[in-house]
Amino acid sequence: MTGNDIRKKYLDFMAKNGHAVIPSAGLVPENDPTTLFNGSGMQPLVPYLMGETHPKGVRLTNSQKCFRAEDIDEVGDNRHTTFFEMLGNWSLGDYFKSEQLPWFYSFLVDEVGLDPNKIYVTVFQGDSSVGVPKDTEAVEIWKKILNERGISNGVAEMGSEKEGGERGMKEHERIFYYDSSKNWWSRSGKPEKMPIGEIGGPDSEVFYDFGTEHNPEFGKHCHPNCDCGRFLEIGNSVFMEYIKTETGFEKLPKRNVDFGGGLERIVASTINNNDVFKVDLLWNTIQQIAELSGKKYEFVKGELSHDKDYDSCTKTKEAFRIVTDHIRGAVFMIGDGILPSNTEQGYFVRRLLRRAVRYADILGVPAGKFPELAKSVIESYQEHYKNLSINRKEIMATIEQEEVQFRKTLENGLKQFNKIELQIHVNTKELNGKKVLDKENAKAKKAISAKNAFDLFTTYGFPIELTEEIAMEKGLIVDRHGFEKLMAEHREKSRSGAEQKFKGGLADQGEKTIQYHTTTHLMLAALREILGSHVHQAGSNITGERLRYDFYHPEKLTPETLKEVEDWVNDAIKTGGEVTIETMTKDKAQKDSTIEGSFWDRYPDEVKVYTMTGSDGTVFSRELCGGPHVNNFTEIKGTFKINKEESSSAGVRRIKAVLHEDQPALIF
Ligand code: SER
Repeated sequence: MTGNDIRKKYLDFMAKNGHAVIPSAGLVPENDPTTLFNGSGMQPLVPYLMGETHPKGVRLTNSQKCFRAEDIDEVGDNRHTTFFEMLGNWSLGDYFKSEQLPWFYSFLVDEVGLDPNKIYVTVFQGDSSVGVPKDTEAVEIWKKILNERGISNGVAEMGSEKEGGERGMKEHERIFYYDSSKNWWSRSGKPEKMPIGEIGGPDSEVFYDFGTEHNPEFGKHCHPNCDCGRFLEIGNSVFMEYIKTETGFEKLPKRNVDFGGGLERIVASTINNNDVFKVDLLWNTIQQIAELSGKKYEFVKGELSHDKDYDSCTKTKEAFRIVTDHIRGAVFMIGDGILPSNTEQGYFVRRLLRRAVRYADILGVPAGKFPELAKSVIESYQEHYKNLSINRKEIMATIEQEEVQFRKTLENGLKQFNKIELQIHVNTKELNGKKVLDKENAKAKKAISAKNAFDLFTTYGFPIELTEEIAMEKGLIVDRHGFEKLMAEHREKSRSGAEQKFKGGLADQGEKTIQYHTTTHLMLAALREILGSHVHQAGSNITGERLRYDFYHPEKLTPETLKEVEDWVNDAIKTGGEVTIETMTKDKAQKDSTIEGSFWDRYPDEVKVYTMTGSDGTVFSRELCGGPHVNNFTEIKGTFKINKEESSSAGVRRIKAVLHEDQPALIF
């Protein structure tokens, strides 16, 4: 079974059990300024887990694209990747443990065909400081499931990962109690790490036993949560029913299930190989790298005669994995419209591709082959992710351009690096009369200066992390702190930089952009009047060329409705009304039902409310906003026209619209 088969099987299985299959949200969260990327399947569904009604009902399933930027440096081992797909199913106050656990188990055993003898489960041991009891309910369910399959169902108390390593496991044990560092899930980890307002709960994880030999570096004995690689977690059912408050943990209005399972890991279990890069979705790219570089991904025992060779092979394998992972991550990001840049999400695309160039060079992949590698990723995934085939040309061209651009400076950058290194060595020699750098010396004197790191970035395009990585290989350190300071100064100087961009959803404060901004307020008012007061802003992005606006609404708008919205806005503009500003406390504004606002918590205690009043005194719109706006509607030039209306994510619609300025009549 391929990765595509298993994804489909899972979605079909969940659909059969009454779940609506919803599309994956984009990699960038639509309405969540707290994080750059969706890092788990539940992230786009947080409002619904907290109690909002989802338009598709109370049972949902999907395969969500995820990106964990924090794992970039971990890539290279058998299981870490930056991009991954999380199979997910959710109960929004509907079913609970006694449905969820048997379903997932049956999916693994009956649908995917995993050997039940290789499946182990963990449960929450309880935490009195949080007031959440031991999950005996889940244990009883698991005991029954295993018993029905004729599998021994012994229960063990493990505690922490470390305690688990000391205790080990007995033959008949299949169900393991662990503490909150292992069997409690929230986006911020265990209960004490959760900020007020964050949701979470106890969970029950399923592990697959790959049967590899235990490595005592990870603890005396092996156990499901041991990191030696024998066991891999393949699914996590979170019983999401708590919210952290000022005073402790309270129950959410409804008890939810949030299940997530790594697609690649499940596929890896079916081939009984704990290397996720062996999964067909990734393996296609690995094979292509092998072809292009003439290198082998790995050797089997006995093929190598020296340990030294073995070491260099481990490095080769790491490089294969890094290139594969990074190209895949970049393909998916660009497919979602994130282009390489020096800020925010775009910076990660750049980092991935530039790091991949270095490792591709180490492997000996000829220059200019990135588009081909990107193509192999697109081919592996396009069956499910249609946007990859639709945007294929753009993805490949962007990747090609980034490779070319970086290569232009890479060689000179590396030369520059060597010069810097030499300089440091010279200093060292003079200082200590010693040829070799040791770490302590590096700390004292052998740091690459902030200025050098800054030049490597601005002149040679080396992301700071790349400079640090190369420095580390050479036994040097980088003055990161000083570098950040220089960067901050640099940004300050070029005020059009990242912070200024899209301030309050505006690309700039040009005249046309401001006209679009006021028009956007009128459009929201129109939508709320025509569709209903459930419509609120989910996101906004306005330039001098167009407005792009996301709002909560469960279904597609008909052409008639769009026309109605256009007319409403144009009629309002035509009245030639005024825009006025009031300042008031946030508290007061929030209590006033005539004032529309979203993202209240992003605003200070004192807020501005913009009111748009027609010349006949009709109040069209009152909205919380940071401005700026036109003073009078007559300043808005052009006819408001909606060019596109589409789905943006689950329950969110996106409108793109312009102010169409008619060509002035030719005067002879
Ligand atoms: N949110 C949980 C996780 O990411 C389960 O979906 O593991």
